[in-house]
Amino acid sequence: VPGPAWTEVRVSTPRGWQELIASALAEEGCPAARFGALSLAEADPGPGRAWVRGYLSEGEDRPERRERLRRALAELAERAGAGELRGLEPLFRVLPHEDFASSWRKDFKPLRVGRLAIVPPDWPGRLRPGDVRLLFEPGGAFGTGRHATTRACLRHLQERLAPGERVLDAGCGSGILAAAALVLGTGTALAFDVDPNALPYARALLDANGLAARCELRLGSFEVLEPSERFQGAMANLDSSLIRSHARHLAASLVGGGWFVCSGCTSAKRGATLAALTSAGLAVERIDVRGRWDLYAGRRTEYAF
Ligand SMILES: C[S@@+](CC[C@H](N)C(=O)[O-])C[C@H]1O[C@@H](n2cnc3c(N)ncnc32)[C@H](O)[C@@H]1O
Repeated sequence: VPGPAWTEVRVSTPRGWQELIASALAEEGCPAARFGALSLAEADPGPGRAWVRGYLSEGEDRPERRERLRRALAELAERAGAGELRGLEPLFRVLPHEDFASSWRKDFKPLRVGRLAIVPPDWPGRLRPGDVRLLFEPGGAFGTGRHATTRACLRHLQERLAPGERVLDAGCGSGILAAAALVLGTGTALAFDVDPNALPYARALLDANGLAARCELRLGSFEVLEPSERFQGAMANLDSSLIRSHARHLAASLVGGGWFVCSGCTSAKRGATLAALTSAGLAVERIDVRGRWDLYAGRRTEYAF
């Protein structure tokens, strides 16, 4: 989907006055100011001067808006009582249209997490022997593998998965955890998310990797599971408050002795999260800490309600 076009509004400004000019642009509906030269090839703003830029989106760049900006800058010397601000002129330049969907993809480099190599579909490079490839084209859903909580889960899965299991991906976002589990050898998966916008990305990821027949997607939360549905393993990259309110549902979705991995929980809430997991009958065997995030992994005990 092509992104919006933008008009750059550039003002050569006496040094020391950049903030005032930036706020004058912002007051006229032209925010997101940047200072300085953006490239070495750029015209010099003049001795003792610097560039200040603002941006107008396509719909905002109208003749009356340009005129208001010109007037606001022309009046600034008077308003600020500063003669050096006389003669400020905005320069307008409609920027080349950028397709943000593809420019984002252009920057998406392969990512390695243990044996898993997450690569864009048109990546020309070669994998190492033993790599497990997951084709991934980033879209708009959470879960590119770059976030510490996703990476921690992906790493953990490689130790925990056993062939042929049926696993649950609770809060699947892009579907990366379910898809990774499947390419790493799990049997089948069920993934759900409350965000209807996430599911088409998850569907596309499964299709791109030939996994659609092995993974079912459902819109919603734990209520989408049938009362009798059970999994050998469950993955949930959800924040602590969600884990605490769904710990019992997570336990109920597992067979006795089934494994779980929860990441996305802030370490600041560790006590409360552990208490909720334990009282739901989920025994935490391991905590991995990455920055301010905890990953909890363990098994459903016999005592899950
Ligand atoms: C942190 S993202 C994780 C995405 C992906 N699984 C990953 O590991 O990168 C959390 C996802 O959970 C979804 N979510 C939030 N609350 C939920 C709930 N109550 N039930 C199911 N999904 C939920 C969000 O829409 C989001 O896609």
